[in-house]
Amino acid sequence: MCGIAGYIGNQQAAPIVLDGLSRLEYRGYDSAGIAVFDGERIRMAKAAGRLSVLEKLTDSGRALPGFCGIGHTRWATHGCPSDENAHPHMNQENTIAVVHNGIIENYRKLRAKLEKKGYVFSSETDTEVLAHMLTEYYRGDPVEAIEKVLHRVEGSYALGIMFLDHPHHIYAARRDSPLIVGVCGEGKFIASDVPALLEHTRTVYYMENEEIATLSDEHIRFYSIDGELLSKEPVTVEWDVSAAQKDGYAHFMLKEIYEQPKALRDTIFPRLKGDRIDLEDLGLSEEEIRRLSRITIVACGSAWHAGVTGKYVLEELARIPVETDLASEYRYRNPICEPDSLVIVVSQSGETADSLAALRDAKARGSRVLAIVNVVGSSIAREADSVFYTNAGPEISVATTKAYSCQLAAFYLLAAKFALVRGTIDEARAKELLSSLKKLPDQVQELLSAPDELSFLANRYLAADHVFFMGRGIDYAVSLEGSLKLKEISYIHSEAYAAGELKHGTISLMEEGTPVIAVATSDRIYPKTLSNIVEVKTRGASVLALTTPDHRDLSQVADHVLFVPKTDPLFMGSLSIVSLQLLAYYVSLGRGLDVDKPRNLAKSVTVE
Ligand code: M6R
Repeated sequence: MCGIAGYIGNQQAAPIVLDGLSRLEYRGYDSAGIAVFDGERIRMAKAAGRLSVLEKLTDSGRALPGFCGIGHTRWATHGCPSDENAHPHMNQENTIAVVHNGIIENYRKLRAKLEKKGYVFSSETDTEVLAHMLTEYYRGDPVEAIEKVLHRVEGSYALGIMFLDHPHHIYAARRDSPLIVGVCGEGKFIASDVPALLEHTRTVYYMENEEIATLSDEHIRFYSIDGELLSKEPVTVEWDVSAAQKDGYAHFMLKEIYEQPKALRDTIFPRLKGDRIDLEDLGLSEEEIRRLSRITIVACGSAWHAGVTGKYVLEELARIPVETDLASEYRYRNPICEPDSLVIVVSQSGETADSLAALRDAKARGSRVLAIVNVVGSSIAREADSVFYTNAGPEISVATTKAYSCQLAAFYLLAAKFALVRGTIDEARAKELLSSLKKLPDQVQELLSAPDELSFLANRYLAADHVFFMGRGIDYAVSLEGSLKLKEISYIHSEAYAAGELKHGTISLMEEGTPVIAVATSDRIYPKTLSNIVEVKTRGASVLALTTPDHRDLSQVADHVLFVPKTDPLFMGSLSIVSLQLLAYYVSLGRGLDVDKPRNLAKSVTVE
């Protein structure tokens, strides 16, 4: 999604803003722009395409001197990616510049009104209405004008604004789109995400919904949308700069795949106190856990896939009925929230628009909401009743890897704890689970030490038009994620099927050479999956199978077998996914694609 960076201080603003934007490139964008106050005017440069085009246009910012500036990377929603539609947008007099993340939903109506009054638009964007509305309401006090505008717009926004009349100020505002304010000595920053600031500061203020901020040489002030002065404390972000850099890896995705053992350790071990799982900070009493009648897991994309595994594990261990729903469906389907039910919202970014809306809906219906979130201080983390933080560290690559793995670990811990409290497993089984959990990071490490086979296998898929994934139970949940990994970064069409479903339709697509990836790690249903593999082989499919060393016989059926070490059957997904992540990575690499920034995608989907 779009990115915002802004700076005011005693250094040249443009290079800092451009650098901030470059740290947000991973979020996905198709044009970029910057506005800087040069002592007399607000000067602007914008360009469709990569940030490098803008950097060239501005001589890496040197062509736009000045100490106060705002910049933007745009992911097109209203109007195609073009120079004109790129942000910032300015009013006709070039006295007000605006960058905006989000969507102004009533912009058509607002635009028609403004056009009637004689305002001339130079872009197709929803954002441009803001620049003209600010002109309409501005009477010398920017905050007052911003308030008036915000009271009239519907939708979501994170805004960075400059007024020529107040040249040493940046104004910011947010509703349902993240925005933070950073401070480091004389320098003050705005950004839509933490990595844009890490080079300069880790001291940040998280803006809440419908808050306005003013940043000047002297101060940072926060106001409510009704003009009330607010007091706010800064927080220190724990992530360090190197966490958001490639550290010698060719891509963030590869680095993040290799960071999984550490991420898992950091998520699992702080939760273990001797032989106990400590979830006290979640504020769920044992009595409440015992009374739980239903759990609904709500999320999008890979986080939803983690939730599919979560359902299997929670139901198996804690014997609580669990449903896993897509947040975009949940929020519009009038869900039933029983008194003793728990809603678990899963999100790496903590800013996904649908997941946030689902959370609010669940709370409004009286449900208790637990969030499994990676980004500290994100909207979902702040609005949930309690938070289970995954400690994956910053995840930059659009394709999630380590955050997904940590979400799985969070579900394992929750399930084991709930099961023990509810008496659905005994102490001996709990010990067994904990012992397997503790070994997981090392087992992932072991898998990562042999990537060559996957790099070699990837060649088989470089020219594929489509790939089918299949599995049963947890192997199916992993297939969903493996398939998404492959399609999102390789652009090869791919679908995952519950293996038993194939013969209800999909098997008609099998023909000579059809690529199938079968995940068959579960001993309990191995014979069933094996039959499905034989069925597709009989129809000519070329099968790559993932299984454990217990099933060497699979080599006689599949074209190629990858062996995954064994762990508790409920945790197998954490190991099989590693091979599928690496496979997707090498296929994308082999096809010469932009691994970290796949086309049309954004890291954090903050609009519907
Ligand atoms: O930040 P979130 O976990 O809420 O994001 C949800 C999805 O957009 C995300 O998991 C997406 O599917 C992944 N980038 C895919 O790799």
